[in-house]
This record gives sequence, structure tokens and C-alpha cells, in this order.
Amino acid sequence: MSAPLIAIDGPTASGKGTVAQRVAQALGWGYLDSGALYRLCALAALRGGVDLDDEAGLAALAAALPVRFAGERIELGGQDVTGAIRDEAVGNAASRIAALPALRAALLGLQRGFRRPPGLVADGRDMGTVVFPEATLKVFLTASAESRAKRRYKQLIEKGFSANLADLLRDLQQRDERDTRRSVAPLKPAEGAVVIDSTHLDIDQTVAQVLGAYRHRARP
Ligand code: DC
Repeated sequence: MSAPLIAIDGPTASGKGTVAQRVAQALGWGYLDSGALYRLCALAALRGGVDLDDEAGLAALAAALPVRFAGERIELGGQDVTGAIRDEAVGNAASRIAALPALRAALLGLQRGFRRPPGLVADGRDMGTVVFPEATLKVFLTASAESRAKRRYKQLIEKGFSANLADLLRDLQQRDERDTRRSVAPLKPAEGAVVIDSTHLDIDQTVAQVLGAYRHRARP
């Protein structure tokens, strides 16, 4: 039997990364930040001069992505890019290239390889719909665009980046639009997903809801 898996999907800045990490910690499981893989591809393309419309070139780059996750640290070709991939320009490029079917296909095997005992919490846009459709629990985590923009603003300022709330809200709405409307793996709740709206929940409350749903699913 394959290892248990919790898939957490949702729009940008919905808090799914933090929630997924905390759930993984609570269960003693591994954690996959699939958005980081799209960001890594985008960064590798920007640095390597690969055009963001060059689908075949990007898929080739993704298939041989020299990535290493060492705890919180993310390396690309041996270089620490943990901070660099969080840049808004990289996020926007990631959202653009994420619409390309060949690139998504090239990342499938890499993502599935993270599923190992004792279990995996995977977060992204299509964890429950495409990558792990047979997940033990699927969660769709959302929140209003305004509250997500405020959270993203706080995150960026804390990390020492400069940020403008109105620009962030606009970028986030554009990214939502692109992630939701693309024809391949559009962002939507997976069949059977538990939908959690975290607009009025803090992290602890959201984590508790996910763990509660998992326990219910594992031992109904
Ligand atoms: O979650 P994030 O903001 O780090 O993701 C960056 C971009 O990657 C996002 O705009 C959509 C894309 N993405 C995706 O298409 N599928 C995933 N499973 C994860 C991210």
C-alpha cells in the first residue's frame, strides 16, 4: 500500500504552505511544496535565458531540474535559492509557465517521487485533482483576495522585500484568474475535497481543521 497523503490545494497566499508544513510536522510526515518546483523552473529559465513561451525548452529544463530540498533550504544546481524563488517576478513567471502542458507533465514524476512512508503532505494547485487523485484527504484552502494580499504583504515585508498592497492585490487577482482559467490542471477543488475558508481563521485553527478532517477520514 502506498504511503498516506494529504493534498492541500488553493489560490496564491491562501496560507496553504504554512498550514501544510504544520500539518506535516504534527504527523511526522514529509512535505512537498509543489509551487516551489514551478518557481524553480521559472528562476532557472530567467537565469538561463530560456524564453517563457518556449514550451519544449522549459519542459526539458524541468525534466532535469537540479533541485535539492534540505529542510527549509532549497538549492538549484547547488546554489541556495530559498529567498530568490519567493520574489514576485519569479512568482509571476511561474504562473505563466505553469499553463504549459509539457512543463506540467515533465514535473509529474518528480512530484510523485516525494510520496514515501510514513506519509506526505503536498501543497499546490492540482495535488488533489491531477498529481495525487487518490490522496487520503484532499483539502481546498481558500480566503478572500484582500486577506490573502494582506498576508502576502506581511510575509514580504518580514523577509525584507519592499511591497505595495494595491499592486499585490492586483497581481494576486491576475494570478488567480490565470491559475483558474488555464485549460490544463486549472485551480479548482478536487472531487471529494474538504473546502476550508481561512478568511476568519488563524493558522492554528486552520491546522486543527485539517488534522480533524484527516483523523475523521482515516478513522471515520
Ligand atoms: O504556490 P506558489 O505561489 O508558490 O506557486 C507559484 C505558481 O506555480 C502559481 O502561480 C501556480 C503554479 N503552480 C501550479 O500551477 N501548480 C502547482 N501544483 C503549484 C503551483
